[in-house]
Parts: sequence; structure tokens; C-alpha cells
Amino acid sequence: MNIGIDKIGFYTPPFALSMEDLAVERGVEPAKYTVGIGQSTMAVAPVTQDIVTMGANAAIEILDEADKEAIDMILVGTETGIDQSKSAAVYIQKLLGLSNRVRSVELKHACYGATAALQLAKGHITLNPESKVLVIASDIAKYGLKSGGEPTQGAGAVAMIVSAEPRLLRLEDEASLFTDDVMDFWRPNYEAYPMVDGKFSNEQYMRFFAEVWTDYATQTGATFADLEAICFHLPYTKMGLKAFKPFLEELPEEEQERLTTRYQESTAYNRHVGNIYTGSLFLSFISLIETSSVLVAGDRIGFFSYGSGAVGEFFVGELVEGFEKQLRVEVHQQLLENRKQVTVAEYETLFSQMVDESGEQTFQVEDKSLFILSGVHQHQRQYQKQ
Ligand code: COA
Repeated sequence: MNIGIDKIGFYTPPFALSMEDLAVERGVEPAKYTVGIGQSTMAVAPVTQDIVTMGANAAIEILDEADKEAIDMILVGTETGIDQSKSAAVYIQKLLGLSNRVRSVELKHACYGATAALQLAKGHITLNPESKVLVIASDIAKYGLKSGGEPTQGAGAVAMIVSAEPRLLRLEDEASLFTDDVMDFWRPNYEAYPMVDGKFSNEQYMRFFAEVWTDYATQTGATFADLEAICFHLPYTKMGLKAFKPFLEELPEEEQERLTTRYQESTAYNRHVGNIYTGSLFLSFISLIETSSVLVAGDRIGFFSYGSGAVGEFFVGELVEGFEKQLRVEVHQQLLENRKQVTVAEYETLFSQMVDESGEQTFQVEDKSLFILSGVHQHQRQYQKQ
């Protein structure tokens, strides 16, 4: 049975900051951000958007009535959860009007959570071929104002419907995994922002890519010539290429050019959104299929997932006949283009507004997204459909 991604959509909040403006304000050479790190714009989440609203906003654009009836599992991958106990999947089930007869769970492992969700969804469909699973990756990446990681912040969500006989991407069964206990990035419960050793984290990312690619190639006999493109987890768009480079350099020139061009296509959206943690790999996939003009059915695409702490996985999917009909190029490009460009001062104000469940709050933000967080009442987040 073929199992994979039937539909995919994404959402990013309606505010964006130019990385050049941020660099100037921080006294940094703009090329460090735009070339060295590879980011042009950073999505900025207002207080009216959290992982629940972003996840629901990403999912609503791809759901039809048939999906709503067939979905019996909602999996939300996130590392910026809003509650220590209650799952974001439950709020999303209600906001989207999905059946109560669903299994709803939130999964955490840094930026790897959504990949774990996708593979669990595949297993579920194997046992229940008639059902569909809604997989959501939703995160707000915040490192703190003036921190080392500030230029790699971002916000957004990706939603996928996983089903049998998918119309977009068939997932292959082989996957290579690697887990090792490393302290490159973590967020203790008392901290608002993660603790990160940036240089060490980059090194681990590269080590894990080498581990899983080499193992995958040994297991399956695959070479890079078998893949039309590789999508990477992208904390910033330079990161994947840094890990890929030692392997690329060994390839014939034509193959290097092909894979590098695909890489640029797979980073186009991420360059304008920033890091969305567990959704970044899947945003990269959307970017690839919506900006490349050379992809055809049957093309095989590699995926490198990395979650600090750390877990790595390499797996492959194949574009299926008619996949072009599942693309939402115009919707996604307008989402990016219609964002309000904010000044650094406005970004700092938006960044600093916090949800405080210990008090009563009502938020006043110019946010026309379908789902918003309108405030806090009696320790509960208040969600609203506009
Ligand atoms: N023009 C062009 N490139 C420039 C430049 C300029 N004026 N100034 C610096 N650069 C380049 C550097 O050479 C470097 O490129 P390289 O890595 O290919 O050598 C890049 O810009 C970043 O510079 P660096 O000095 O390493 O930046 P930093 O010490 O501020 O740290 C991160 C950058 C990404 C490590 C930091 O933002 C971070 O900690 N991020 C969060 C953790 C993370 O993303 N981990 C990744 C794995 S998930």
C-alpha cells in the first residue's frame, strides 16, 4: 500500500522584519545575516498567535469535508508548547471542528517532533487504510532580543494530511535513524528561551547528517544520483548546505549543480520566514515543490530531519502522478507578500508582549488571521475564529 502526504499547507504570522534592518540596528554587517546565515526576512509572531492558532490556520486551508470525516488522529509536533499537560492537538480539534472520535497527542523532541509524527501517522495508516491523520508542526522560535540566535528566529506552522494512496508524496519504508545524548540546545522549565551552544549545535547537525546519510546509503545502496533533491531541517538557510558541502564536493560537477539549484529552491520560503523549528524541514519541502519548475512525478526527494539533543533521521519520498494539482503556490506566496513589514522597534514591542495565564488579558493586535488568541480568562487561553 502507498502511504504518504496527501496535502500540505503552511501558515506564518502577518508581520515580518527585514534582516538588513535588524543587522543595522544591532551594529552587524548585513551580509552576515543575509549571506553568512542566509536569511532575508524574519516572521514575527504577535501575542495573538501561538502554536494552536498557527497550527489551526495552517490546517484550515487544506481540509475539506471528506478529510474531516476520515481524520481519526491529530498529531502536533512542537517544542514551544503552551501547556505542560494539555495537548495543543485538543484545542486544534475543537477549532477545526473535527470529530470527537480522534486520538489527539502532542509530540516533543526539539525540531524532530513532526518527523516522528509523520512516521507514526504512516504506521497508523498501515493498520487503518481508510483513515487519515492530521500532522501539524507548529513553533515560535525565540532566542531573545540581542541574543546570538536572534537572526535565526521565526514563527509558523505546517499542516499535512497523511493517507493511503496520497496525491502528493509517497513515503518509502527505509529510514536511517541516529540518537545520541548531546547538550547542544535545550530549554529548562524555568527558562523562556533555549540554552544553545551555537557552534557545537552546528557541528552536531553536520555529524548527524553524515551519520544518517552514510547509514541510509549503506542500507539501501542509494547514491545522490538517485535523488532529485534533498530537503534539510533549516534553522537558517545556510545550515543544510554546510552539512551537505563535504558530500557535494565529491560529486561530478553536473550533479553538484543540479543538487545545489534544488537546494536553493528548497530554501526560498525559509529565507523569508526564519526558523520554525519542527516545521522547517516541511516548509523546505513546500518551498521546493512550489518554486522548482523541473520536478516530475517519480522524482525521489531525500529528507534530513534533525532535532537537537539529539535525533537525526534520513528518509525518502517519491512525488506521485498529478502532484502538481496539490500545490498552493498563489496562496502561499500571497501569505508571504501580504505581511506587514515592521520596524525593529515594532518587532521589539511585538516580541515582548507575553501571554500571562496568571492574569486576565485581552489582546488588541491588528491580526486578521482566521484563528487568533484573543486573551486569557480564568487561567485559560481564549481562542477565537474571526
Ligand atoms: N559577510 C558574509 N558572511 C559573514 C559575514 C559577512 N560580513 N560575517 C560573518 N559571516 C559568516 C561567517 O563566516 C559564518 O559562516 P560560516 O559558518 O559558513 O563560516 C556565518 O556568517 C555565521 O557567522 P558566525 O560568526 O559563526 O555567527 P555567530 O557566532 O553569530 O553564530 C549561529 C551563528 C547560527 C550559530 C547562532 O545564530 C546560533 O546559535 N543559532 C541557534 C542554534 C542553531 O541554529 N543551531 C543549528 C543546528 S539546529
